[in-house]
Amino acid sequence: MRVLSGIQPSGSLHLGNYFGMMSKMIDYQEHEELFCFIANYHAQTSVSDGKVLARGTLEAAANFLALGLDPEKSIFWVQSDVPEVQELAWLLSNFTPMGLLERCHSYKDKVAQGIKPNHGLFAYPVLMTADILLFKSDRVPVGKDQKQHLEVARDIAIKFNNEYGDIFVVPEAEIDDEVATIPGLDGQKMSKSYGNTIDLFQDEKALRKQVMRIVTAPIPVEEPKDPDQCNVYKIYRLFLDKSADQELRKRYQAGGLGFGEVKQELFETIRDTFAPFAVRRNELLGDLEGLRSILAEGSDRARGVANRTLGKVRKKTGLAY
Ligand code: ADP
Ligand code: TRP
Repeated sequence: MRVLSGIQPSGSLHLGNYFGMMSKMIDYQEHEELFCFIANYHAQTSVSDGKVLARGTLEAAANFLALGLDPEKSIFWVQSDVPEVQELAWLLSNFTPMGLLERCHSYKDKVAQGIKPNHGLFAYPVLMTADILLFKSDRVPVGKDQKQHLEVARDIAIKFNNEYGDIFVVPEAEIDDEVATIPGLDGQKMSKSYGNTIDLFQDEKALRKQVMRIVTAPIPVEEPKDPDQCNVYKIYRLFLDKSADQELRKRYQAGGLGFGEVKQELFETIRDTFAPFAVRRNELLGDLEGLRSILAEGSDRARGVANRTLGKVRKKTGLAY
């Protein structure tokens, strides 16, 4: 099975990105054919400063590699290093009804947040569809927020196939309900745009500060507490195996557990979990030439696959004459 997903290189990496998408992707490399890329074209819908985008791209690549993505076991590249995807996006645009894009929540939400409603933002799901179809992906693991974009991708693939025969694989979204929406500090979806994130790679002091900001109810220490109503628990459980999870639930229910204490434990857990990855990340970012060469190899391999699909599409659509 071929699994593909991308992550935008905008802003720092948070627990929502990690548990919602990255850790699952990295696991896939062991038993599936994994395609993974840094979606820097998509990031241009929100980042216009070239230096920020370039640096963010390198950091996002270092994040993935540091967290365990193995470029030998997967195909890992930067989206714009395979510009063939733009040609496919154009071809697919002609099979994309306006209404399909007009209904996209993500577009409407971003416009409501004050982002300018330009064509890039509007056409974003078409480019995402091209990412998926170009590599004939069977499965696309994403967070719940991307579900509708996967429906758009399926619709476009079906429309195109109806016209030209079975060129594209119709992809399936993979949304893991357990971690579908990782909550942030305030219990809402963790997201950069809500300013409620806990970031993976930051200094201890800043990390502790974020964890201490998790919103809790004013319940006295001695009272029993419902873990399922607690934002600290909802994040902490992501790090626990079954028995440690049961143990923590019991401590909540027994009473006598203060939110300060459990926040301190959570802070230490996050710090200790990611410390070794931070060391590796710094090494990668300390050797940018080495990092660029890993990415160049990845894009060569991705391009090979892309050109095979695009060759067929060009023939069918009459661009090859
Ligand atoms: P943000 O909402 O912070 O801007 P992105 O849109 O860059 O995050 O998300 C990158 C990837 O991480 C996507 O696959 C997205 O679905 C996933 N993701 C982001 N936030 C969460 C979350 N809170 N829970 C689950 N998955 C998430
Ligand atoms: N839109 C995705 C996000 O913001 C990133 C992305 C771009 C993507 N192209 C993709 C994800 C293709 C999966 C497949 O999270």
